[in-house]
Amino acid sequence: MGRIPQNFIDDLVARADIVEVINARVPLKKKGREYSACCPFHNEKTPSFTVSETKQFYHCFGCGAHGTAIGFLMEYEHLDFVDAVEALAAEYHIEVPREESPHASGKPDIDKQPLYDVLEQAAVLYQQQLRTSDRAIGYLKQRGLSGEIAQRYRMGYAPDSWSFLADSLGKTKTGIKHLLAAGLLIEKAPDRYYDRFRDRIMFPILDQRGRVIGFGGRILDQGEPKYLNSPETAVFHKGLELYGMYEARLAVRQLERICIVEGYMDVVALAQNGIEYAVASLGTATTGEQIQKTFRSVREIIFCYDGDNAGRKAAWRALENTLPILRDGMIARFLLMPEGEDPDTLVRKEGNDRFEQRLENATPLSDFLFEHLQQEYDITSSEGKASLAERARPLFAKMPNSILRELLLNKLARLIDIDVQRLDTPTSRISHTSRSAASPQPDTTQKGPGELRVCIALLLQHPPLATLLELPAEFRESEINGVPLLFDIYRTIIDKPTISGQAILERWRDKKELPILEKLSFLDIPGTGKSDIREQLYFETTSRLISRLRYETKYEILQAKVEAGGMNVLSKEELEEYRELVSGNRRTTHVDSEQG
Ligand code: GTP
Ligand code: MN
Repeated sequence: MGRIPQNFIDDLVARADIVEVINARVPLKKKGREYSACCPFHNEKTPSFTVSETKQFYHCFGCGAHGTAIGFLMEYEHLDFVDAVEALAAEYHIEVPREESPHASGKPDIDKQPLYDVLEQAAVLYQQQLRTSDRAIGYLKQRGLSGEIAQRYRMGYAPDSWSFLADSLGKTKTGIKHLLAAGLLIEKAPDRYYDRFRDRIMFPILDQRGRVIGFGGRILDQGEPKYLNSPETAVFHKGLELYGMYEARLAVRQLERICIVEGYMDVVALAQNGIEYAVASLGTATTGEQIQKTFRSVREIIFCYDGDNAGRKAAWRALENTLPILRDGMIARFLLMPEGEDPDTLVRKEGNDRFEQRLENATPLSDFLFEHLQQEYDITSSEGKASLAERARPLFAKMPNSILRELLLNKLARLIDIDVQRLDTPTSRISHTSRSAASPQPDTTQKGPGELRVCIALLLQHPPLATLLELPAEFRESEINGVPLLFDIYRTIIDKPTISGQAILERWRDKKELPILEKLSFLDIPGTGKSDIREQLYFETTSRLISRLRYETKYEILQAKVEAGGMNVLSKEELEEYRELVSGNRRTTHVDSEQG
């Protein structure tokens, strides 16, 4: 299928009414100019979830959840972006068009449906095989699993045959082609194939919609490899999926927390013992994408890893991958198993209650972080303190601005007895100021509503303002954080003057700047309800920004010349200008988005 045309998304977003969309799912009450309800994303008794009709935006003051109509559908119904667009369009009885040439995007978008079909058929066959294999049933029984759990997780058995799937699903050329593309067959030589999974207990891996996208297979007795996974295919990406997520959502009506474990068997053993919200990463470290996806469904993640060295390492990796994602209101905790146990063995030994108790007492991320750092460094010496600070610096630099970040910084400062300012220097966030791939978002959240923030917020809330004033193209190349973003938003509007603010946000859907843009589109700027006031404000603020940036750029160019070749490389006019710039000392006027 081709891509959904950007125009269509813009129009759909402009046409949809967020109040209608949300009200159909979470009944809203009108309160003044806005609508409110108890937040569907966290537990609360008094409503702090508000929906703004004018801004077409929702926001929860309790847990910080916020977004557009599409964002709401993604979070509330656990959909990915395309599915959310489809759902929204369906609500307005509009068909989603697809671009003619699916190859235009550079990547041929092969039709995935046949892969889903063949994977589903394979899962059904494996399930049937399990029912008839005493050996496989015996193995699962011996591991303490009931038929009910095996069924709920659609567990199966791949028989000990080199051609079981090929014989049943590969009778035609296209059948073979799809089995290969789904990773179920391996090509030995041209036109010679064999089944990837043989004599293994099969764990189907489902996506958020419950479609089979791949398998994990465990050997029954001893043997290598113990587990075999589907390879990466058009529908299966190990780093994105978590085993058991779909099943957990089905089993637990209001999921509040997810427990991420290491193994397939851990997931099913926990479910067998009444802990139905465990999921597993697929034999690799838990990735940022997996964590982010999980936080879309729940506010709390408990990482539950083995107590050995490998488990500790995995936990620390998970912590590092969590930090950039962790916003206030999200909770991450860690539970390491006692030596020699994994969740599977432990829950079978101890039972539900005691295991749940362990989960209750899992270590909060902040404690885990400090315990780990203190184990690594001896903070009774100054050298140790300094090394610890050095080690912690990049960790903090990764974190979005949040209260938690501030609390952690303060704690670190107290621990090593240093002024917190020394820890949170601009250089500690250096990656944020360069526009490299690592830079997550402009630091426009740092202070009160500064100029850059005001400009971006006004554009998002009232896109037609962009036509008031031409922004210089150098903005795009500016080294100053947030300025290229402002320019991109400006260009987006100029290219399509009818675009709505929400449609602009949707264009940033997969980008790192999305959270800040969402925040800004909700920012209250007093007085701007009136069009003349906001026009004046936008005009003045933007003009000021332009002249400052021009000034800074000019200064930087001259300064660079002087540094490279001394004063005499400057022309007469340049020299004059330079003197003026230096003596005027106006350079203290920084664009407020810049740190320092
Ligand atoms: P059991 O021995 O059945 O209890 O397995 P487990 O779930 O305890 O697995 P273990 O702790 O050995 O490994 C955890 C996870 O790592 C498994 O669920 C697999 O996803 C993955 N894994 C383990 N062994 C292998 C292997 O040999 N190859 C691959 N690709 N993955 C493995
Ligand atoms: Mn195990």
